[in-house]
Amino acid sequence: MTNPPLRFTTAREEEFDELGELLGALFHGGFDSESWAVEKTLLEPERTLLVRDNPDLVASATAFTRELTVPGARVPAAHVSMVGVAPTHRRRGLLTEMMRRQLREVRDAGREPVAVLWASEGRIYPRFGYGLATQRLVAEADTTELRLPDPTPAEGRLRLTRAVDCRATLTRVYDEVRPDRPGWSSRGEVWWDYVLADPPAQRGGATERRAVLHEGPDGVDGYGLFRTKGEWAATGPNALTTVDEVVTGSPAAYVAMWRLLLSLDLTRRLTYRAAAVDEPLLRLVDEPRRLGATLVDGLWLRVVDLPAALAGRRYATPVDVVLEVTDDLLPENAGRWRLTGGPDGATCVPADQPAELACDVRCLGELYLGGATVGALATAGRVRELRPGALATAGPAFGWHRAPASREVF
Ligand SMILES: CC(C)(COP(=O)(O)OP(=O)(O)OC[C@H]1O[C@@H](n2cnc3c(N)ncnc32)[C@H](O)[C@@H]1OP(=O)(O)O)[C@@H](O)C(=O)NCCC(=O)NCCS
Repeated sequence: MTNPPLRFTTAREEEFDELGELLGALFHGGFDSESWAVEKTLLEPERTLLVRDNPDLVASATAFTRELTVPGARVPAAHVSMVGVAPTHRRRGLLTEMMRRQLREVRDAGREPVAVLWASEGRIYPRFGYGLATQRLVAEADTTELRLPDPTPAEGRLRLTRAVDCRATLTRVYDEVRPDRPGWSSRGEVWWDYVLADPPAQRGGATERRAVLHEGPDGVDGYGLFRTKGEWAATGPNALTTVDEVVTGSPAAYVAMWRLLLSLDLTRRLTYRAAAVDEPLLRLVDEPRRLGATLVDGLWLRVVDLPAALAGRRYATPVDVVLEVTDDLLPENAGRWRLTGGPDGATCVPADQPAELACDVRCLGELYLGGATVGALATAGRVRELRPGALATAGPAFGWHRAPASREVF
């Protein structure tokens, strides 16, 4: 007997709950009914690919339509998520086929020059041309050992409230800060629903999410979202503060926010899983090693439309370089490209001249937000210098004045 072929379809809304069940099983929980009720509102059916082995749903991949901040600009980016293959059907090429179809669709639609995702495991996506574009620090701090400089009158006023009660303010501050933060994504209404959703099942015994707002001379210019979990040790209070995000538009707001978060009465520990690699806190506290920071992955980025992507960001220094790029999955990206530009903008066109640097498309994903350096990729043997001196002249252009970071996992 031969098996009927697997069916690839775009999702219908009535299939969403079945998708939630598949993902709940694949990710070992984490999609409780209250969380899924919010998450499914993010789904765009026409961008959601399902695979059925009739009647069972056996694989999925979706993309969300959002904008991504890149050095000096913002570009539309396919935000890829909910990727999974049932254990009964894994290692038979289903992920490979879904990635192939999805990248082809994004490319052919012509709207999004890049795709981004969070990976459950780092070794899954490089074969599809995704490069590690942002990293983050997970801080597990011993707050008893951390001091900040003394407060100054310029630090303004802090207010404590429930996060859900100040949504409009959070949205405004986030939108003011976002254009300057490579790696951050736009948040429409459904995304704020998602970010502020606070199902009790996901709190791990901690309080509901609180917000601290900083009021500067012109109104609220920063916020922090956090929760706390009480604990009493034999030796006394030992509560934990968990910070979800800190978004500030002024140094006064940043310093005041962290002063409060690091010193809440009865707390002795703080966890922050979304610190930037160049988190200013490292430059502020008197004992940086007590922040207990561990470097981990952030966003993975795939250059889908090479000339549009490279022309879509700005460059830290003037650049004029010919790149030789390989791309097995999207051959339109392969070949020689001349990138010319600088801090005010860039162009990228097919080149006749000899190539000066050579790499695969995955390297461009790593460089795109300014997270990796060309020098590091060259030392790793992944960028090749074909014209002596090209690394030193072109390399600095791909950097940026701040490290890229990432916010909510999607
Ligand atoms: C990760 C997952 C989607 C892979 O799906 P799949 O259909 O088995 O993948 P494919 O059969 O297309 O595999 C393609 C290649 O990637 C490799 N691969 C796939 N998943 C891998 C993993 N987790 N670790 C290492 N290699 C992996 C395969 O071995 C295969 O390599 P090969 O071509 O050299 O033989 C699936 O195992 C899964 O759903 N895991 C749990 C949920 C998850 O982690 N999803 C990703 C969320 S970001």
